[in-house]
Amino acid sequence: MPNAARTTRQAPGEAADGSARLIVALDVPAVRDAEMLAERLAGTEAVLKIGHQLAYTGGLALAERLVRAGRSVFLDLKLHDVPRTVEEGVRSLAGSGASFLTIHAYPQTLRAAVVGRGSSGLRLLGVTVLTSMDDRDAAEAGYGSGVLDLVRRRADDAATVGIDGLVCAATEAQDLRNALGPGTALVVPGIRPAGSEAGDQKRVVTPAEAIRRGADFLVVGRPVTGAADPGAAARAIAAEIAAAARDA
Ligand code: C5P
Repeated sequence: MPNAARTTRQAPGEAADGSARLIVALDVPAVRDAEMLAERLAGTEAVLKIGHQLAYTGGLALAERLVRAGRSVFLDLKLHDVPRTVEEGVRSLAGSGASFLTIHAYPQTLRAAVVGRGSSGLRLLGVTVLTSMDDRDAAEAGYGSGVLDLVRRRADDAATVGIDGLVCAATEAQDLRNALGPGTALVVPGIRPAGSEAGDQKRVVTPAEAIRRGADFLVVGRPVTGAADPGAAARAIAAEIAAAARDA
């Protein structure tokens, strides 16, 4: 199976059904739950995202099994530490065959991750500013500028270091796309198909709107994992992605 997630920016139509641009967040407590979801998503090229909850309870071994089974895996571990620790950690994770890894977009951390990734196919995604933070939180944390300025600055740093992409809110995607050009992948969470529950996401956009704003990959959790038929939900979102990409 072609591993579309390892290529550079997805060309519209590269994955005819759009599923290679869909990242499904496996936010479940146990490996068995994640395996069942992965089975339901067989037949799609959706990237499977493993975050802290699952990673610390067998998720890293699961990631390697999924890769061996031909799936693309996203390790959402948001690394940040002293450079040597980041470099060695990324080197270890690069051996898993995962397609994506998140790191916090601080210049030191970015540079160390690029070294640790080496010539592997692991694509590094910078987290600029957590979307749970607003200007007040940034001030409380001691930053002298607001969230938008911080996002732009971290995006510039990431581009300079040669990072593969950024995780960003849909509201930031257009601005970052204009600033960074087409070479940096934009990965956008907070996606809700029309008519679905927003849950704890405060600012949501539809899959089509995210693509129109310049997203390359969409992160979707509960609208897929909480659906009665996760496979059907993923295929419907993939179809919406493909249609929007054709019109873009
Ligand atoms: O679609 P749903 O809201 O369930 O997706 C939640 C997923 O998106 C989680 O895995 C979460 O870590 C991720 N995410 C997010 N907001 C961000 C970055 C990632 O919700 N800013």
